Amino acid sequence: MGNIKVDLKNTHITEKKIMKYANEVLDIHNYLHEKCKSKKEYLGWLQLPTDYDKKEFDKIKKSAQKIREDSEVLLVIGIGGSYLGARAVIEALTNTFYNMMDKNERKSPQILYVGNNLNPNYINDIIELIGNRDFSINVISKSGTTTEPAIAFRIFREILENKYGIKEARKRIYVTTDKTKGALKILSTIEKYTTFIIPDNVGGRYSVLTAVGLLPIATAGIDIDKLMEGARFAQDKYSDENLKYNECYRYAVVRNILYKAEKNIEILVTYEPKMHYIIEWWKQLFGESEGKDGKGIYPSGAEFTTDLHSLGQYIQEGRRNLFETVINIEHSETDLKIHVDEDNLDELNYLEGKSLDYINKKAMEGTIAAHVEGDVPNILVTMDKLDAETLGHLLYFFELACAMSGKLLGVNPFDQPGVEKYKKNMFKLLDKPED
Ligand code: PA5
Repeated sequence: MGNIKVDLKNTHITEKKIMKYANEVLDIHNYLHEKCKSKKEYLGWLQLPTDYDKKEFDKIKKSAQKIREDSEVLLVIGIGGSYLGARAVIEALTNTFYNMMDKNERKSPQILYVGNNLNPNYINDIIELIGNRDFSINVISKSGTTTEPAIAFRIFREILENKYGIKEARKRIYVTTDKTKGALKILSTIEKYTTFIIPDNVGGRYSVLTAVGLLPIATAGIDIDKLMEGARFAQDKYSDENLKYNECYRYAVVRNILYKAEKNIEILVTYEPKMHYIIEWWKQLFGESEGKDGKGIYPSGAEFTTDLHSLGQYIQEGRRNLFETVINIEHSETDLKIHVDEDNLDELNYLEGKSLDYINKKAMEGTIAAHVEGDVPNILVTMDKLDAETLGHLLYFFELACAMSGKLLGVNPFDQPGVEKYKKNMFKLLDKPED
């Protein structure tokens, strides 16, 4: 089973300081585990890896198989928690250039994402990209009323219906939404679309291991059993209420200690470009969960070594309110060696025989040392490898850490009241009729 280790030594926070949180962590742990049994609390994700709808899971696999057989493109329509998890897992576990690969090599449909912005160029480019090819739609919205995905669905449903006729189009639309509420649910019932339910007690940004994430992920050919297995392993591992041994809670506590020491920006760093959307997913998870009541660590991300040539200067010598969490992948899936060059005009022969992954790791070690010396505390999260199991583990790790972190901060990590503000203004400007 792909494991995850958390190394906190480069935060220079003492064990004594961490363990001062033991009782508070225990209380929050007990609260989370007691309340997760209630259908009213947004805590369903806590036991999701063991307590999920098996029938729905099989239906997801069947639908994914059908899409793989009859579509060259799957269009995932959703925003925020309704697409970031799927995109994060798919991009982490497939070829970096998956969507650009020849379809025979890819062996799975292209996965394209819309409904995550309101930009006409973006949508027109996707329409052009799909062209005459066969496609299906998975529209995902828990509320069923979010404007961005609703507009995209209206546009692409029309295209699908014009292409296949209403009857056949219906067989190519997959809806993931609430079991009773929302415009999307009503539409889906009337049109008899294949529908997947987002459990009541699982909020958007904690929903990647429901149909929200699993249908697109399975369509991309990723083993969702393995993903759940990894999450299950994590659920068991982090059920230990003892702060001394629970690395997930230790990460949450150390973030809180750093925050109190004015380190109020966390940069999640990767040296693997495939993890770009894992960072985006994490940013949403922590940003929406913690940023409220005038509090919260600002979650940001960086890809090294790329961003060392853009943000590196700031991180090394700018305002000292940063800390870094680096995700290290211990065993790279592939590697390549640097060969000797007789002329050595590029002066790289000192790297002869060394592998690129080794060089990448040395860049990481050197950067961590430099940043720590520059007063940027470092948390190192090491994944054994980048596969479905370890990723399932990582997703659960961050979800639980986020809940613990938000509670330690004294905020509700499961709501997002601030998101309504821009919508209200936008609706007013667009003359939307009152409900
Ligand atoms: O985490 C959340 O709840 C939000 O970010 C939602 O996922 C996002 O706003 C999309 O909402 P919906 O799924 O209702 O369309």
